[in-house]
Amino acid sequence: MQKLFAVIGDPIAHSMSPLMHNDLFGVYGINAHYHPLLVKKESLQEAVAGLKAIGISGFNVTVPHKERIIPFLDYVDPLAGSIGAVNTVVNKEGKLHGYNTDGTGYVAGLQAALPEFKNKRTLIIGAGGAARGIYFALAAAGLQHIDLCNRTAEKAELIKNECPYEVQTTVYSKDMAEKELSQYGLIIQTTPIGMSAASQGLPLSLQRLDSKTFVSDIIYNPLYSPFLLQAQKAGAEIQNGLPMFVYQGALAFELWTGIKPDTNRMKKLVLSHLGG
Ligand code: ATR
Repeated sequence: MQKLFAVIGDPIAHSMSPLMHNDLFGVYGINAHYHPLLVKKESLQEAVAGLKAIGISGFNVTVPHKERIIPFLDYVDPLAGSIGAVNTVVNKEGKLHGYNTDGTGYVAGLQAALPEFKNKRTLIIGAGGAARGIYFALAAAGLQHIDLCNRTAEKAELIKNECPYEVQTTVYSKDMAEKELSQYGLIIQTTPIGMSAASQGLPLSLQRLDSKTFVSDIIYNPLYSPFLLQAQKAGAEIQNGLPMFVYQGALAFELWTGIKPDTNRMKKLVLSHLGG
């Protein structure tokens, strides 16, 4: 019988996950289909029970359900539990197991471009859900020094205080981070600034950027945010959010099938749909 996979969220029509996973099922000869499902906030519990009842093989979870889904799962992986968010669910003999491949997806994409990332003094800009997942996954991977800079300092302090992995962190104001900028070997931009016309500008000034710094932005639509373009102009090596998107999908696919998929193929497919 054909296996069923899905992504649940609201909105969901824009998701590129169905494209990516259905292509992979074809490539690896797996009789399965991946479907986007619009699930409203208030229907989450019912939707999860329904998916379990029909024996879904696995699903992804996106905005606004990543945190709220946790009480409705049978098991939550320790990294996902500490982050407090799940983006991938695997049905194992009728029990729903939750994982987070967003942060580990970011780390896998970074590792591919910057294998020596663990030695880099790092700055994360932003302190939302994405920043939290990336911070925890980098700390779990052994990165020693990760500073945080966010408009609301309390949210950055929470990330620092709640992280179960050993890591050295200072929470900086925007001004302080700008002054310290040349000290960083790696800068990770996680705010939505630059994603749309309504949110233009830079999250902080790159005036003191060292040209040897590796600068990454989790935005991939547009492919290159004003922040990344500015960093590139200053001579820095840059990475956009496409690897993170592709690797979070690749890690989910591996959890479901045991197969490590071809990430170059996935990247090309997504790029062709973004018009890149
Ligand atoms: P996600 O879960 O995708 O990370 P989020 O939780 O909404 O999204 O987090 C977005 C992050 O970008 C937050 O840290 C937010 O700052 P606050 O914690 O102060 O809200 C930051 N952010 C969003 N818009 C911003 C702006 N215009 N200027 C500075 N920071 C901004």
